[in-house]
Amino acid sequence: MFFIIFLSLVLFSACSINIKHKFPSKEISDLTMPGNKLKFKEIEGYENYKIIATHFRTDKQEIRYILGNKKAYRALKKNKLPLPEGSIVVKIGWKVKKMKNFNPALEAGTLQRVEYMIKDIHRFPDNPGNWGYARFVKNKGKYTVWAKGTQSCISCHNLAKQNDFLFSKYQSLH
Ligand code: HEC
Repeated sequence: MFFIIFLSLVLFSACSINIKHKFPSKEISDLTMPGNKLKFKEIEGYENYKIIATHFRTDKQEIRYILGNKKAYRALKKNKLPLPEGSIVVKIGWKVKKMKNFNPALEAGTLQRVEYMIKDIHRFPDNPGNWGYARFVKNKGKYTVWAKGTQSCISCHNLAKQNDFLFSKYQSLH
């Protein structure tokens, strides 16, 4: 009996630790875009999303990972457009730096941004493709919301209209 109680306690505390550390601090998860009210919290667990594509911006010297939740990943893998309701696509950007012990190689340095697009017909009925946009910028170790709004996101992503407003295409791993 004692053993069972002990075991349950161990399991319970392991679970609560897990929940506690599921996402960065509350300060981060509460960050909210001023215009459309999208929160950082909305993409909780994005570390487990799958890689859809990788990009490199030569002008910004930034390497980018594009990740998708299950819905987005499945659709993009099969190139089934438009993406289904509830799809989330996340982009993470890191400044690149030279590898210390092998100079010609570049590696990811400081993380500079986490941004996402979420397909939600109820919250974004008037946005092209029903996509909502959010960007969180990391500067000197601290995240802040992108205060300039999302009009520029919408306009530029219009260039990718034929691909459901996404520039990314599934990047094969084979
Ligand atoms: C001037 C054009 C431009 C603007 C403005 C822009 N984007 Fe993008 N976005 C791109 C391009 C090009 C890519 C693909 C290349 C890359 O990863 O940088 C991209 C990729 C993305 C992706 C990955 C999915 C995809 O379309 O490939 C997300 C998510 C994203 N942008 C979010 C945003 C958000 C949020 C904003 C506004 C805060 C924004 N973008 C503003 C051009 C733009």
